Amino acid sequence: MNIAIVGSGNIGGALGLHWAKAGHQVMFSGSRNPQKLDALVQKAGAKGSAGSAAEACQFADVVLLAVPWPEVERVLAELEQTLHGKILIDATNPLTTDFIDLAIGFSDSGGEVIARRLPEAHVVKAFNSVGANIIQAESKMFGGIVPTLFYCGNDVAAKQVVAGLIADSGFDPVDVGPIRSSRFLEPLEQLWVEVIKSGIQEEFIISLLRR
Ligand SMILES: NC(=O)c1ccc[n+]([C@@H]2O[C@H](COP(=O)([O-])OP(=O)(O)OC[C@H]3O[C@@H](n4cnc5c(N)ncnc54)[C@H](OP(=O)(O)O)[C@@H]3O)[C@@H](O)[C@H]2O)c1
Repeated sequence: MNIAIVGSGNIGGALGLHWAKAGHQVMFSGSRNPQKLDALVQKAGAKGSAGSAAEACQFADVVLLAVPWPEVERVLAELEQTLHGKILIDATNPLTTDFIDLAIGFSDSGGEVIARRLPEAHVVKAFNSVGANIIQAESKMFGGIVPTLFYCGNDVAAKQVVAGLIADSGFDPVDVGPIRSSRFLEPLEQLWVEVIKSGIQEEFIISLLRR
């Protein structure tokens, strides 16, 4: 699969490297620092390349959006023509500019804003509620448990593709319904912040235990 990374920071850089390792062709983009992109391409080896965000989206079947929320509208306005028919994974959280709260909630969500903005794309919300340290880790295992990665979206076929990419990055994909469920996934990131504030020092993830 050809994957575009738009926003090659903590989340985009790490997921791009996991997907390259899993055998996908990955184009990194969306950084203001070309050396950062070069370093990612070097790490990805033959499966990696870098380009402008528009080039990456043209090349891709699947686009990972991993830029700060205030950048989302600018990025989508630039890329919307290249996203028709593509799967867009929305990893963003619609945070306020001081990063301490959600800017949207209860009756709407960032995932829904993006899905309305891109009616020709298949938007799937995923990876927003897991800390970058866990996404970056080589092993995702917590003891013997593969942790949950929740995702949601309206297009069943697109969600199947994204579930495969979630598994390729080491998580257990759990489908939590239509894109409207972003209203519940985005506050999970806030819960994650509150857990850190409670003083928990160990690496952790918010996961679903089943038996
Ligand atoms: N960090 C987490 O634990 C975490 C977890 C889940 C979801 N998220 C969400 O994922 C998204 C990305 O988070 P991240 O931690 O990967 O952020 P990050 O490390 O700062 O990476 C953001 C990427 O967007 C690029 N970018 C383009 N224009 C930018 C601008 N004007 N200002 C700032 N960055 C710009 C950055 O470019 P440069 O390379 O030039 O900096 C970078 O490549 C956010 O929406 C965040 O809420 C984060």
